[in-house]
Amino acid sequence: MKGRKLVLVYGEAETGKTTLVIQSAVNCARAGFKTIFVDADNTFFSRRMRQLANDDFEALAPQIILMKPDSFEQQAQAINSLDDYVSSRVKLVVIDTITSRYREELGKGRDAFKLNRELNRQLGYLAQIVNTKKVACIVVSQVRSVLLGDGASIQPVAVRVLKFWADTVISMRPTPKTEVVRLTVSEKGDKERAPKPILLKIEEMGLREI
Ligand SMILES: Nc1ncnc2c1ncn2[C@@H]1O[C@H](COP(=O)(O)OP(=O)(O)O)[C@@H](O)[C@H]1O
Ligand SMILES: [Mg+2]
Repeated sequence: MKGRKLVLVYGEAETGKTTLVIQSAVNCARAGFKTIFVDADNTFFSRRMRQLANDDFEALAPQIILMKPDSFEQQAQAINSLDDYVSSRVKLVVIDTITSRYREELGKGRDAFKLNRELNRQLGYLAQIVNTKKVACIVVSQVRSVLLGDGASIQPVAVRVLKFWADTVISMRPTPKTEVVRLTVSEKGDKERAPKPILLKIEEMGLREI
């Protein structure tokens, strides 16, 4: 992926979002660069990376700096520390997912206005890192279903905040086949061209176009 881009990946649970971002980190490592991976979901990162990196796991693992914040406050600290951590060897920053700790706080009845402002600040900070440090950043978000008149429509939580900052938006949708997902990429400011979805199969070794 080209540097200097803030990419939003959103979709329902089990649509391969984490697979996509770990695969991106592995590809980045294969190209000889480092990734800072903020795993705010506490996923089985190492186990999935072992599958995706296959025989190269031992060689590639040191290229990925893993941070595991377990609160929205720790997530804020992790993001604030990027200014120090992002060196010239780092080409990718991943936040998977940027909204789970935020939702956790909302669920506890914390001030939604303050939380939205903090989420907005984190995105703005990431956008600044992307612009000043020549890195790409992928932020992942879960979605909240919004029911429209013609059936279910899917939107990420805090959608306006996330889309405001993103240069590229990738949506991952389920299909009738459980292991197959539909991925759509749209670039900001490219309204004329209708994004063309691609179908991907989630496999042991990662996502494969079919
Ligand atoms: N080793 C594997 N082989 C095949 N499919 C897998 C493997 N590991 C996870 N999956 C599938 O990937 C999907 C979850 O992908 P994940 O990237 O965690 O999604 P998300 O982050 O969007 O919740 C599940 O449907 C799961 O069955
Ligand atoms: Mg995930």
